[in-house]
Amino acid sequence: MSSLQEKFPDITQADQPLAPLTWLKVGGLAQFIVEPRSVDELQEVVTFCHENETPVRVLGVGSNLLVKDEGVSGVVMRLTHESFAQVSVSGTTVTAGSGALLSNAISESVKAGLAGLDVLVGVPGTIGGALQGNAGGRSGDIGQFVSSVTVITVKGERFVRAEDELSFAYRSSSINELAIVEGEFQLKEGDSEEITRRMRKLWIMKRASQPLASQSAGCIFKNPRGLSAGALIEQSGLKGTRIGGAEISDRHANFVVTHEGATSDDVLRLIDLTQSKVAEQFGVDLELELRVW
Ligand code: EPU
Repeated sequence: MSSLQEKFPDITQADQPLAPLTWLKVGGLAQFIVEPRSVDELQEVVTFCHENETPVRVLGVGSNLLVKDEGVSGVVMRLTHESFAQVSVSGTTVTAGSGALLSNAISESVKAGLAGLDVLVGVPGTIGGALQGNAGGRSGDIGQFVSSVTVITVKGERFVRAEDELSFAYRSSSINELAIVEGEFQLKEGDSEEITRRMRKLWIMKRASQPLASQSAGCIFKNPRGLSAGALIEQSGLKGTRIGGAEISDRHANFVVTHEGATSDDVLRLIDLTQSKVAEQFGVDLELELRVW
């Protein structure tokens, strides 16, 4: 494996802590972090890893991710270079690199008087992460605006998947390639001021019901069909329950917040406890929305 560092010395770092790169701020080391500077370089690294049977994962801003305390082996790819963060608007089409923040794509669209992505106000994360998990909320999700997605396969091939080859469902997408490079969105013309007013309302509602300022990772569980995971957890009497440094938010029971000294294991044990309490009380199996590495 030292040859990864030999082949890509400028962009590879070994034994790097992942905790500071996630919102929950817990978890172990990445064996390698690689930060390619272009799509070509990303493809080269992926091809190299494929040939050497090295696992590759792509990290966004870590807003929906729990890294286990033992860390991850292989490569954690970070698409932090500016070449992955471009957002451009042409007519009613917005193109955004997978490393761009969703919030940035939203603000560029609104500035250009384009409506659609504004319903995602307050959703953290990158375009790549949002596309992969079809991020969204009660007012809509990202999948409904997608016209195409450019992906890199596990072998390092790049291709474009058009709208008719893609499907999006509640917090899931059909995008199963290794990495997303870019997404293209078809939006509608609107009035910037009106869109901004609408966004402000949504933002205020979110801020009132979710612990945005704490160390958290969005909702931990998916909502079971027709039900609210938050309400089920609250009715199980778990709000405020703490294991080690991890706590079920007092503000919204589907959020876990971490305190100083928390470990990934604390969060996992809290997740286990929540699942078994809710199953016992309501006969409902809560499914994780949070990604676990
Ligand atoms: N509720 C409780 N107790 C709680 C939390 C919620 O009783 O602790 C009740 C609320 O009173 C309300 C219902 O549950 O009647 C639904 O709550 P809320 O409106 O907060 O929405 P949610 O279903 O909990 C969903 C998404 C959020 C998204 C919001 C707003 C999921 C799992 N969650 O939350 O998405 O921000 O709608 O659009 O789909 C995320 O995916 O990470 C996320 C935060």
